[in-house]
Amino acid sequence: MSSRSPAPTPVPALAPRLVPVRTSVTAALALLLTACGGTGVQGTPGGSGLRDPYFPKAGNGGYDVRHYDLTLACTQQGDRLHLTGTATITARATQDLSAFDLDLNGLTVGKVTVDGAGARWNRTGQELTVRPHDDLEKGGTFRVTVRYSGTPETITDPDGSQEGWLPTSDGALALGEPTGSMTWFPGNHHPSDKATYDLAVTVPQGLRAVSNGEPTGETTTEGRTTSTWHTAEPMASYLATLAIGDYTVRRSTTPDGLPVYVAVDPEEDKASRKALARIPEVMEWAESVFGPYPFSSTGAIVDHAPDVGYALETQNRPVFPGAPDTALLVHELAHQWYGNSVTPKTWRDMWLNEGFATYAEWLWAEEHGGDTAQQTFDALYDEGEDTYDDLWSFPPAQPTSAAHLSDSPVYQRGAMVLHKIRQAVGDDTFREIVRGWATTHRHGNADTADFTAYVEEQAPDEDFDAIWADWLYGEGKPERA
Ligand code: TRP
Ligand code: ZN
Repeated sequence: MSSRSPAPTPVPALAPRLVPVRTSVTAALALLLTACGGTGVQGTPGGSGLRDPYFPKAGNGGYDVRHYDLTLACTQQGDRLHLTGTATITARATQDLSAFDLDLNGLTVGKVTVDGAGARWNRTGQELTVRPHDDLEKGGTFRVTVRYSGTPETITDPDGSQEGWLPTSDGALALGEPTGSMTWFPGNHHPSDKATYDLAVTVPQGLRAVSNGEPTGETTTEGRTTSTWHTAEPMASYLATLAIGDYTVRRSTTPDGLPVYVAVDPEEDKASRKALARIPEVMEWAESVFGPYPFSSTGAIVDHAPDVGYALETQNRPVFPGAPDTALLVHELAHQWYGNSVTPKTWRDMWLNEGFATYAEWLWAEEHGGDTAQQTFDALYDEGEDTYDDLWSFPPAQPTSAAHLSDSPVYQRGAMVLHKIRQAVGDDTFREIVRGWATTHRHGNADTADFTAYVEEQAPDEDFDAIWADWLYGEGKPERA
């Protein structure tokens, strides 16, 4: 709890009866303005969460972020990095606001301003509640600046995986699915609020900071290196990454002229060379299947983080905790269309990310001399439980709880839903659906209902009710039918 700015002056009581008749209108207006603060708006608090079915406190109500401008400085403190940051967030109020929340997990807040004026604030759990000096008007754009510092936290998710700020042997790796990005910057940390980003990160000389989007500069002075990164396309905060360490950087372009930026921990360089060399080929194949690439650069970050245990489809360039194989590369690059451009409205819709990315692996195999998707489907249907003992434990569109969001029903059974659609509509229409889904919701958010409606629209003669009922929403192992 803290309050650094002076309390607002007491509100004078409105007394219209005492105002002389001649000036009553102007005077009453003036009084009203004073009473409600300088903007003449009397707002209400925006709310501390978006009631996501799995992470109810993630994100906040009452505003919509347009842009994050993050300036971070990292210094070595013992064997961890200490962070000093300034976050300037440009947002649009979606209601008249007397207060709003930002999500921030850990760290110490120093000062908060809104539109340049000192704001009162307090913290409860992951909620940083900001009370601007003047209430904010619905539809208006405001800028909130938060100065903060500390050693960012590593958080353990309900499923036991670690995310947030992950120390590595030579720096740190920030991974944010589903809620870890609030460990290194304050914001509206829910997939439904996408924004553009500018990031400037200063690290000790010899290290380097790699992030999403495109690098826009790097300067070294007095033993410190500052890298700047710009993300021009809307990005959900769980896809933001920051990799700090010693990396070998390789820049190139695809045959289409798309910039490729690859950063590899020297320890993983040899092992990852073969897979990374296939990025242009995978991109070309993916564009042929999924449609035009939705972002302005691609690449990969390969770190040496053996404890992390999973890759993440961070925007533009996925993060791998060690050398990837081609299937994993295909999976993470497919997410750029499915998940990163078409982003779930809530965490319940995660099968739309993982089902598509898994199906992309099946399609890649089918078209590169491996099993057909039908064979993969059949093997899963017949003996999938041997590999994934929880395969039939819940339907893809209704994970049992937050602890099960990354389980095989979301990935494998999610892909099986897509294959059932393919069986129903045939290859050509299926291709149109896969591509059209990415095009229709490009840079947007969508949920399962949007998806089923879209499929039905594209194949109006088919009846999908049984597929939805059995494969998408039904408990237990569906009939093969
Ligand atoms: N979404 C990631 C992918 O598909 C994987 C992932 C992220 C994950 N966080 C996780 C897997 C936690 C298991 C547990 O590439
Ligand atoms: Zn995935």
